[in-house]
Amino acid sequence: MSNKLLSMLFGAAIALSPAAFAADQNLADFHGEMGGCESCHANGEPSADGAFEFEQCQACHGTLAEMSATHQAHDGMMTCADCHAPHDMNVGQAPTCDACHDDGRTGQ
Ligand code: HEC
Ligand code: HEC
Ligand code: HEC
Ligand code: HEC
Repeated sequence: MSNKLLSMLFGAAIALSPAAFAADQNLADFHGEMGGCESCHANGEPSADGAFEFEQCQACHGTLAEMSATHQAHDGMMTCADCHAPHDMNVGQAPTCDACHDDGRTGQ
């Protein structure tokens, strides 16, 4: 686990009330309460291509290759925000496979 994530986890334990984990909170607001817009955006401004934001996700969470089998299957093909759009997806949500695949597959 990276030092950046460890320090965020300690920070979150101190700074977050249980209400901050409400299921109807989107990922951007959830992360923003921990580190502000700057935790994902350089100077708080979105990049044109999403590369900077993808780097930030990986700095805290690890790379796709280091995560679950579902994540490993998409290594090198997608960014985190393709599935976890921070301003559109809520805490606890993730897309089902059939959002993109039409062959009945399920993940783990
Ligand atoms: C968890 C990381 C994360 C945090 C925190 C975050 N953003 Fe974002 N934001 C993204 C990503 C990734 C995108 C591009 C994909 C998308 O639109 O969801 C984005 C897109 C945007 C866009 C472009 C939206 C569009 O429709 O083109 C704006 C504006 C923005 N963010 C502003 C903010 C502001 C202001 C904050 C703080 C209140 C913030 N973001 C916090 C990750 C984050
Ligand atoms: C192809 C879609 C997809 C992409 C791309 C993706 N995820 Fe996920 N993510 C999921 C799904 C589906 C789940 C539900 C649990 C599972 O299948 O692993 C999930 C669960 C999670 C969770 C909560 C459960 C856990 O494993 O801790 C986190 C955190 C997470 N993803 C972070 C990320 C990050 C960070 C990236 C980029 C490095 C990423 N995801 C890229 C689909 C995706
Ligand atoms: C500064 C560190 C940091 C950055 C940057 C960051 N995260 Fe997180 N993220 C966390 C922490 C801490 C948690 C809460 C503990 C956990 O679930 O791992 C979390 C939780 C999550 C969860 C799980 C929420 C749930 O459903 O329980 C997802 C999904 C996620 N992050 C995706 C992303 C994506 C996508 C990006 C980049 C756009 C990103 N994170 C950037 C630190 C970070
Ligand atoms: C946001 C869109 C999206 C979601 C959601 C998604 N995938 Fe994918 N997946 C892709 C794309 C794009 C590729 C690369 C092109 C391809 O091979 O179809 C891919 C490739 C794969 C591959 C490797 C190639 C293959 O077809 O075997 C596996 C395995 C996979 N996905 C499994 C899953 C599983 C399991 C889930 C649900 C947990 C899932 N995907 C959800 C978009 C997605």
